[in-house]
Amino acid sequence: MAQQRLDFLRETFRNLRSTGSVAPSSRFLCRAIAGKIDPARARTIVELGPGDGVITHYILERMQPDAQLLIFEINEVFVKKLHVTFQHDKRVTIIHDSAENMGRYLEERGIASVDCIISGIPFIMLPEILAQRITTECLRWLGMGCRFGQFHYFPLMLPFYKRIFGNVDVEVVPLNIPPALIVCCEKR
Ligand SMILES: C[S@@+](CC[C@H](N)C(=O)[O-])C[C@H]1O[C@@H](n2cnc3c(N)ncnc32)[C@H](O)[C@@H]1O
Repeated sequence: MAQQRLDFLRETFRNLRSTGSVAPSSRFLCRAIAGKIDPARARTIVELGPGDGVITHYILERMQPDAQLLIFEINEVFVKKLHVTFQHDKRVTIIHDSAENMGRYLEERGIASVDCIISGIPFIMLPEILAQRITTECLRWLGMGCRFGQFHYFPLMLPFYKRIFGNVDVEVVPLNIPPALIVCCEKR
């Protein structure tokens, strides 16, 4: 566990803009954000910016045996780690590419829409145009009534999500370093 935190910290300082946090999410945050998945309904789930996969474990716990999870990560060190950690779970597909390209991979697999998207990408650190491109892709690929869940440490981007999705709900997770907010938007 201590080694895992050190590895995460090293990658954070190497790639501060794209990693955007100094510690992996706490179990309270992981549980709360994975809770946005409706296990009865979700057959195809997408996770963006899994890092070392701390939230991925909680997502998998909520998934049915016949559901699938596609994860998009740009950091090569994390991608290698994800391959080792999840090599025995047939439900997981690890994609070493940016979330903005998700459409290409979904089309290749004949996926028409996804049932939930969970994201840890630090949009606040990205150029707004890139954040807009990724979230617009999320809106495009989500099925009707399905959810996008994202965590943040500040409420600064709430108007951004409202503009893209037309609605935004917020849940506070105090037991995280730093305390976090889960932003949840639904495709309506
Ligand atoms: C704050 S870390 C989150 C890690 C983990 N999900 C957690 O909760 O501890 C953000 C992650 O998003 C990844 N990331 C940043 N931009 C991305 C992009 N455009 N597409 C996919 N992943 C991206 C970073 O490499 C990093 O692993």
